[in-house]
Amino acid sequence: MARPRVLSGIQPTADSFHLGNYLGALRQWVEMQETHDSYYMVVDLHALTVEWDPELLRRRTRVAAAQLFAIGLDPEKCTVFVQSHVREHTELAWILTCLTGMGEASRMTQYKDKSAKQEFVGVGLFTYPILQAADILLYQADQVPVGADQKQHLELTRDLAQRFNHRFGETFRLPQPYILKEVEKITDLQEPTAKMSKSSSSPQGILDLLDEPGPLRKKIMRAVTDTGTEIRADEENKPGITNLLRILSALTKTPIPELEKRYEGQGYGTFKKDVAEAVIETFTPIRERTQRLLADEAELDKLLAIGAERARAVAQETMEQVRERVGF
Ligand code: ADP
Ligand code: NA
Repeated sequence: MARPRVLSGIQPTADSFHLGNYLGALRQWVEMQETHDSYYMVVDLHALTVEWDPELLRRRTRVAAAQLFAIGLDPEKCTVFVQSHVREHTELAWILTCLTGMGEASRMTQYKDKSAKQEFVGVGLFTYPILQAADILLYQADQVPVGADQKQHLELTRDLAQRFNHRFGETFRLPQPYILKEVEKITDLQEPTAKMSKSSSSPQGILDLLDEPGPLRKKIMRAVTDTGTEIRADEENKPGITNLLRILSALTKTPIPELEKRYEGQGYGTFKKDVAEAVIETFTPIRERTQRLLADEAELDKLLAIGAERARAVAQETMEQVRERVGF
């Protein structure tokens, strides 16, 4: 039986991915390349939904792509590409835009949060779930990894696929949600009740995949904790320690109760040092591979050309049908 096809994307909107992105999404992409026919893309078109600088976008897109290869996505096992390299995304997005009701688009709740944070709100920020639908349907994806905040977008994708199929003939496969293994949110080291995010207020709270060992160690040793001495998970009273336990548990694949036992009677200092070493051990080879790939422009171009070509072949096949069916 053919492996289910999965599609996922990540925005090139920061200079590095962070530990939250890695544990919450990227590490699982690496696992899925063994079980799925996987398509992973750097969604630079989506990065235009908020104000951008062209040079910065170009650089971040390459850095993002290099990190995807560096974490272990293997072009022999999966397809890694840049969204804008496949022109069919924008073409299908327009056709789907014309099939989306105003009311239906207005019900997308993420728009309210996202637009509140922007000075200039472009129409693209409003319609980006339709571009997301095009991303998915273009590849006839069976499964799409989704967190709770994306469920509504997948519903819209399914509705649009059904509407298109009903009006113009069976064309799109209906994608199913793929529930990622439960990774609890990694939180900010300086503000341990808020999620670690590229939009965190202080860089000291974020562990970037491309950080050097020195800064990583410093950030972890200075992570905010309670004034107690016990190393135990307690979301409410010890969010900082709980977050560090979660990080160490995820990186060393050791259950939290086992860690609690191991650190019984030990101080925060020893524990934090071990967390720092685990993070450094994971991030260092990724950073080094990323740097090597960024230094070898021709190699990165080649890898991205391979991905684009493979992605394009699937996208073009879908679009040939779509164009004919809508009357082009
Ligand atoms: P950010 O919050 O930095 O803007 P994104 O929204 O671009 O990150 O997230 C990309 C992926 O990384 C998503 O799949 C998201 O679920 C995951 N992710 C982001 N932050 C975290 C976090 N703090 N903990 C776990 N997963 C996260
Ligand atoms: Na985000």
